[in-house]
Amino acid sequence: MNNAGKTTKNAKVALVTGGNSGIGEAIVRALARGGWRLVVAGRRQPENEKVAADVAREFGVEAMPRAADVSREADCLNLIQDTVSSWGRLDLLVNNAGIGGGGKIAESSTEDFDRVVRTNLYSTYWCSREAYRHMTTQPVDTDSGLRGAIINISSLCGIEAWAGSGIYCASKHGVMGLSRAMADEGGQDLIRVAAICPAMVATPMTGVAGPDYIAPDDIASTVVYLLGLTSAAWPVEVVVRRRGAD
Ligand SMILES: NC(=O)c1ccc[n+]([C@@H]2O[C@H](COP(=O)([O-])OP(=O)(O)OC[C@H]3O[C@@H](n4cnc5c(N)ncnc54)[C@H](OP(=O)(O)O)[C@@H]3O)[C@@H](O)[C@H]2O)c1
Repeated sequence: MNNAGKTTKNAKVALVTGGNSGIGEAIVRALARGGWRLVVAGRRQPENEKVAADVAREFGVEAMPRAADVSREADCLNLIQDTVSSWGRLDLLVNNAGIGGGGKIAESSTEDFDRVVRTNLYSTYWCSREAYRHMTTQPVDTDSGLRGAIINISSLCGIEAWAGSGIYCASKHGVMGLSRAMADEGGQDLIRVAAICPAMVATPMTGVAGPDYIAPDDIASTVVYLLGLTSAAWPVEVVVRRRGAD
């Protein structure tokens, strides 16, 4: 699912939630390098504007910054509808926006649970549901053989769990259930749905840095890899572990 032979006017359109930082920003940059038109979404509009302006200048693509709080249903629905009404299509949704949720379950509150689950899981449900509905109305793209794609940035915490990260794990396990079921449905509707499950990545969320940690660009490259597959290949999840770590 690439943009070979496309001009900026008919280039494919991607929406990246949490596209203004860390993994999301790396994904925006990788897609811009491939000629995609981009919607960069997050709560902080100045950060969205900066990333959108940077990729427009560096790669000559169109990029729209959009302020949205994905823990709210209305913002998620507006994001999809705004993208489609602006550019007439949505070829790729990357559900990347997310927050951590550390601490023991016994010491947590309902408010903690609500905040993390709304941001990480409900957002994925709301954005995916709306995007998928639109994608089913799109024609099959001749080069990819698909009507669209949805890639969920889950986590190793979506398939494993550790003490002290229970709420985050619950949210990401929920993302995996949603993602796996939608991958199955998408196989029938020619909409690729896949989850990426990274271990520790060097981003503002974790505050770690250096060559021992997965780079945001590694996750962006995984997105690009998924988009380059034929429609016969249907990976449902890609787990990106860290060498030498649990
Ligand atoms: N870093 C890791 O080790 C790691 C590992 C596995 C999975 N992940 C997952 O990867 C994704 C990106 O994480 P990151 O490490 O790149 O974190 P990051 O640098 O902190 O970026 C998080 C992004 O999410 C956006 N965001 C957070 N809450 C939002 C909300 N309510 N509405 C809209 N946007 C929101 C932020 O933008 P605003 O602040 O402007 O809203 C920001 O762009 C997350 O889903 C995370 O769970 C990260």
